[in-house]
Amino acid sequence: MVQIGLLGFGNVGEGVHEILVKNAVRIQERCGQPVRIKTALVRDLSKPRSSASQGISFTTNPDDILNDPDISIVVEVLGGENPAYSLISRALKFKKHVVTANKEVIAKHKETLFSLARDHQVCLSFEAAVGGGIPIIRSLKVGLAPNEIEGIYGILNGTTNFILSRIENDKQEFNVALAKAQELGFAEADPYMDVSGLDTAYKLVILAYVGFKVNITLDQVAYEGITSISRTDIESANQLGYTIKLLAIGRRDNAGNHVFKVHPTLILKSHPLASIQNELNAVFVRANGLGECLFSGPGAGPLPTGSAIVSDVIDTIFDFGCHSRRHVEPPAKSVVPLQSATTESQFFIRLTVADSVGVLETVTRLLGKHNISIANLIQQKNHKDTATILIITHHIVESEMRAGISELEKETCLKVDSVIRVGFSDSIE
Ligand code: HSE
Repeated sequence: MVQIGLLGFGNVGEGVHEILVKNAVRIQERCGQPVRIKTALVRDLSKPRSSASQGISFTTNPDDILNDPDISIVVEVLGGENPAYSLISRALKFKKHVVTANKEVIAKHKETLFSLARDHQVCLSFEAAVGGGIPIIRSLKVGLAPNEIEGIYGILNGTTNFILSRIENDKQEFNVALAKAQELGFAEADPYMDVSGLDTAYKLVILAYVGFKVNITLDQVAYEGITSISRTDIESANQLGYTIKLLAIGRRDNAGNHVFKVHPTLILKSHPLASIQNELNAVFVRANGLGECLFSGPGAGPLPTGSAIVSDVIDTIFDFGCHSRRHVEPPAKSVVPLQSATTESQFFIRLTVADSVGVLETVTRLLGKHNISIANLIQQKNHKDTATILIITHHIVESEMRAGISELEKETCLKVDSVIRVGFSDSIE
């Protein structure tokens, strides 16, 4: 029998347990032996546990797991950097195989942890850290291994996709949708992680490592969240044939330069990523052999995340006794990605303007001064003496765009309500 030590028994820990119990026969058949949780580390021993967890020994002392020779695999689902990082490090040093769902720890400490895993000849797996239940890590590591990856475009945060979908489809308020995402167990303990784009940025650092084989740090990812996106922005995007998603973008150009960024993005409704709703995640990959490929599925929640974790447990068991390269990342080279300001995009601009002679001329003249060319423009009369102008620009370097917007902001006859990047508009993205 394979015995697991579980670090954490919250939502995700319960999901892992449920999958192991519900699919015990199938898992035993795949592994050739039963797999069970022997001990779980919890904060509060007095908290009532479900009857399904009978047979698990609960402890507040991690040494009960790390020192137990019967436990061969440690599954970490505590979340957050500490104490998870130190416990994972200790488990590897104790020659335990480790499976973790912890994007923050992997994003920040990947090189140290994989070096420890290599030194101690154990596996370190992290499928659940990106994309919830979608097997994207394994697909990049194994399924797409013969390819050079050219682009990775991901909706990687279930909470923000849930909020944007609820605003778009049900006209829900931001905070109501966020509260629902928390209730359903998608959101982080501190939902700032989700809505600020930080959670997505951690996941992009991991995809950069696995997909592009480069070692980047969080401060090399320009990230923005969704807190500035209003229902009006979404409705305006809809009018122009787009939806808005929080998109993680990693790409390598022909010259070998990398770009890694996370921001709200207008996506044409005909693009496959536009149909990804609610807590679903998706990763759109461009690979030089396969071509374009879309992976999608539940990106958050106890059972999808539990499924990804248990898949790593099973894969680890397949490799017992043969220290496979599949479970230990080789060292990756460091790169200096291009600054977001030097990259090109199309942009969506929403303006409220005085409905008077010459205003449109002012807008086009100031944008033109910065080489910002207009691809699409709609003007709508509002109730009072104002009008709304919606613009989609042609491609323009981001720094030029910012300069043009600064000029517009100085004008008293108009107000810049929103500026949002447009994705997938041509081969540059
Ligand atoms: N809070 C995360 C999300 C959980 O909403 O996607 C999965 O990483």
